[in-house]
Amino acid sequence: MRVRESDSFKMQPPLRGPRRLLSAPAQALQKGDMRRLGRRRTSAIARRVNRRGGRSIEFRRRLYEERFDRLLEENGGVPTHPLELCDGFAIDRSGMMPLLDSMLAAGAELIDEYGAQSWEQQKPFLQNINPEDAVDRHPALLDFVTSSAMLAAVAPCFGYVPLLSGLVPRGVRLMESSTRFDPKAEGPWRESQLYNLDYHSSPTLYVVVALRDIGPDDGPLHFLGRAASRRVAEALDYGARGVPYRLSDEQVHALVDESEVNRFSEPAGTVLLIESSACFHFGSRRPGNDRYQMQYAFVSPVRNDFLELWLPQRVYPAAASDPDLRRLALDRSLLALG
Ligand SMILES: [Fe+2]
Repeated sequence: MRVRESDSFKMQPPLRGPRRLLSAPAQALQKGDMRRLGRRRTSAIARRVNRRGGRSIEFRRRLYEERFDRLLEENGGVPTHPLELCDGFAIDRSGMMPLLDSMLAAGAELIDEYGAQSWEQQKPFLQNINPEDAVDRHPALLDFVTSSAMLAAVAPCFGYVPLLSGLVPRGVRLMESSTRFDPKAEGPWRESQLYNLDYHSSPTLYVVVALRDIGPDDGPLHFLGRAASRRVAEALDYGARGVPYRLSDEQVHALVDESEVNRFSEPAGTVLLIESSACFHFGSRRPGNDRYQMQYAFVSPVRNDFLELWLPQRVYPAAASDPDLRRLALDRSLLALG
């Protein structure tokens, strides 16, 4: 694996102190997508361990309920027709979202510089090609996702002002799907090529932007709406111990009609918001053309896993002089506004 050299970005190390003693048992519980106790029980334990983040949720909820319009106004204006999630997702095909063009231009530059090379080894069919300092070198990436139009669309799903994730899933990724490095590009499908619900945070909300046109044979993201997903989850007792994390097409399509499957096969510049913790999804199956998406992840300050115990978190560039709403989205340590 190649390493991109840079020391211009900041990471916050995991907490020291007695809580670190929890790391070993927590790692055992976390292993294999929380196989030992099942994701539902393990997540409940993790939320108890992480309960200190509840203060941040309360702070963010109060601001959302009492001052959200003012925060939007200070951050560039209250959007007249914010995008609204319906059945767990929303698609904007207008090409008019604020700052979209500069974000697309930054994405194109990053693809030219880093595309079609091997950076990550976990999945041969899908990798984040963004260097760690991409958001520092290309302010357009964060400007787009912290605009008032975006945060007005994202916050209602949480009921508070959420955080851009500093851990898993990473907050800002440029995902490249290709067959170039995959010795088993023809299948059988595996990992994120199979239906799953994201479990690290409830909710997890993705903002996905097509950086180039995505044709129907380019491994588009496939997803179910919230209601169809709930039917599948309830029928299979998804999240219980012994129930697999990844589901086959046969398991899912026995419970939902194929007409209920949505596909993010769209022209460049199309924006998808999807609650990936509530909408079953898969993608990256044998893309005919390389598929490029900018993928942002918003999460709760109280995680459903134990990763904070041992992993460092990304600290996003945010200045005290930035609008409060932007600081809230980027700075997880914020517990008061000046
Ligand atoms: Fe997923």
